[in-house]
Amino acid sequence: MNFIFLGPPGAGKGTLAKEAAKFYNIPHISTGDIFRENIKNQTELGKKAKAIIDAGGLVSDEITIDLVKDRLSKDDTKNGYILDGFPRTIPQAEALEKFAKIDAAVNFDIEDEAVVDRLGGRVCCKDCGQMFHVKTMPPKVAGKCDKCGGELYTRDDDKPESIQNRLVVYRNSTAPLIDFYRNKNLLVDIDAKPAPEKVLEIFKQKFAK
Ligand code: AP5
Repeated sequence: MNFIFLGPPGAGKGTLAKEAAKFYNIPHISTGDIFRENIKNQTELGKKAKAIIDAGGLVSDEITIDLVKDRLSKDDTKNGYILDGFPRTIPQAEALEKFAKIDAAVNFDIEDEAVVDRLGGRVCCKDCGQMFHVKTMPPKVAGKCDKCGGELYTRDDDKPESIQNRLVVYRNSTAPLIDFYRNKNLLVDIDAKPAPEKVLEIFKQKFAK
């Protein structure tokens, strides 16, 4: 299956995508992760993207589309993939149709207050990218990743003003994709409010192997 994960920032797309990708044995392709990796390695792409991402804006369609097209040409995507955070605009969705066949667009349904709480407490591993939440999903040892022992940090775009901007950008540019995929009979809504294990269970029920 070729999945798209749609939904507001902090809805839990990345958290579910990591588990679902393991379960279906398909790659989890997160454009946000690819940009953050480039920022960490100070590549040309990373330098261009950093200020935009920190402020909660969107990297240009042109750059993002080329990056995803290139990633989907790799052999590991032949048996399916999860696209997490792409497409994020109508032009990205239209471009994607030219080089990929999507089976389902999974829409993470959750209200703004919940995402503000989730993003306000999120910490991520510098080494493996695993996400935690200081209150609801705390690491066993404060500041250390349970999986690899890496140092945990707060993303620059999880500052309150960036979170608000990301929600505005989501509403204006990304939410129209819900109708775009509904009109193509590809939209599958998922309740993103329950705990991660429950969301995974709901997902598995909807997409039995
Ligand atoms: P990206 O990394 O895609 O950010 P996002 O869409 O804002 O999504 P997040 O990673 O913030 O949230 P998530 O839904 O994955 O939630 P998570 O699982 O982490 O993109 C970052 C930036 O890159 C963009 O703003 C943009 O600038 C740029 N970019 C990326 N793609 C682009 C594109 N296509 N075009 C242009 N620009 C692009 O969970 C959040 C927190 O909640 C965590 O603490 C987690 O532990 C907790 N949590 C998760 N699930 C649950 C649950 N079920 N119950 C309780 N807590 C939970």
